[in-house]
Amino acid sequence: MTESGASFSAWQVRELEVDGKRRYLGSLIERKLAELPPGDVLIRVLYSSLNYKDALSAAGNRGVTRHYPHTPGIDAVGEVLHSEVATVVPGSRVIVTGYDLGMDTDGGFAQRIRVPAHWLVPLPEGMSPFDSMAYGTAGLTAALCVQRLLHNGLTPEAGAVLVTGASGGVGTLAVALLAHLGFRVHASTGKPESADLLRSLGADEVLPREELALAEERPLLKERWAGAVDVVGGRVLAHVLKSVRAGGSVACCGLVGSAELPVSVFPFILRGVNLLGVDSVNIPLQDKAVIWQRLAGEWKLPDLSALSHEIGFDALPSALDALLAGQSTGRTVLRV
Ligand SMILES: NC(=O)c1ccc[n+]([C@@H]2O[C@H](COP(=O)([O-])OP(=O)(O)OC[C@H]3O[C@@H](n4cnc5c(N)ncnc54)[C@H](OP(=O)(O)O)[C@@H]3O)[C@@H](O)[C@H]2O)c1
Repeated sequence: MTESGASFSAWQVRELEVDGKRRYLGSLIERKLAELPPGDVLIRVLYSSLNYKDALSAAGNRGVTRHYPHTPGIDAVGEVLHSEVATVVPGSRVIVTGYDLGMDTDGGFAQRIRVPAHWLVPLPEGMSPFDSMAYGTAGLTAALCVQRLLHNGLTPEAGAVLVTGASGGVGTLAVALLAHLGFRVHASTGKPESADLLRSLGADEVLPREELALAEERPLLKERWAGAVDVVGGRVLAHVLKSVRAGGSVACCGLVGSAELPVSVFPFILRGVNLLGVDSVNIPLQDKAVIWQRLAGEWKLPDLSALSHEIGFDALPSALDALLAGQSTGRTVLRV
């Protein structure tokens, strides 16, 4: 950061043409404040975090980011430097997740962001900036999934709850949160080496990913779980819907496996299974604020250190590659 404060460091992805093919290359550059998009509030970013969507944006996925050069980072926590609105006070600490941040609006992989005031949630009392990004969009999503399951009548007495993609960001936080709330948790993972971590977060059982990913013609399977949080989609989500007990619910929030859903209507019409769609990006700010308060209060996880680690800009490219390949474990917090 220069003394005048007019320029700042940002990790920017550029589109290049190499041997007739499009390539996307990220690097740390100096930017001017004047280059940031218009917005009510200028924020000094303290931490960001890595989500699957950031890996897609950094890899040139047009479903996430249409225009390059671009700075990814759908999450940020920081300090307000300048505000055009009376309700947001300079010096206060705020969280921004979702909406257009890091998609087509320059995101949190930078020392400064400028955003509309209606994207900001105050950093809750008792939550450190680091912890807010250890949760990040993944934690908000995991908590929204749990909230929807509870709202649809899931109780610890009803039986075990399954989490798929359990070693990832949403997965680890869903496992930890459900266990914290007294549920028996089954964790499905493609990484046998993450079994100890998942057990330490509270999983009672760890299942190999292949068990749920087999092509299965039968319209219904043995009733096994009272509910589930699914980040995978595709065959895995189909298998889960066929295996949830009568009246149970499945919160669906991701598509790392597939965006398709090869399932018949039988789980819904013969067992009354509920498929609950969860979006953490574009929901009203007030709904996000309620979840953040909960994560700082009665749902606060005692220790996020087992599932989160901190990196700097130097480790960002390899961390994004690992995320895209499904090789990442837990939550990666970017020190900005
Ligand atoms: N709806 C929303 O608002 C919302 C918000 C946040 C995230 N999401 C979505 O949720 C998903 C997970 O996000 P994340 O940030 O947790 O990502 P992540 O940290 O990369 O975790 C995804 C996990 O899924 C598993 N996985 C990866 N590739 C797979 C494949 N081909 N088949 C089956 N499982 C696979 C891996 O866990 P294991 O090795 O343990 O199986 C991986 O660690 C993404 O699709 C993301 O876009 C949605």
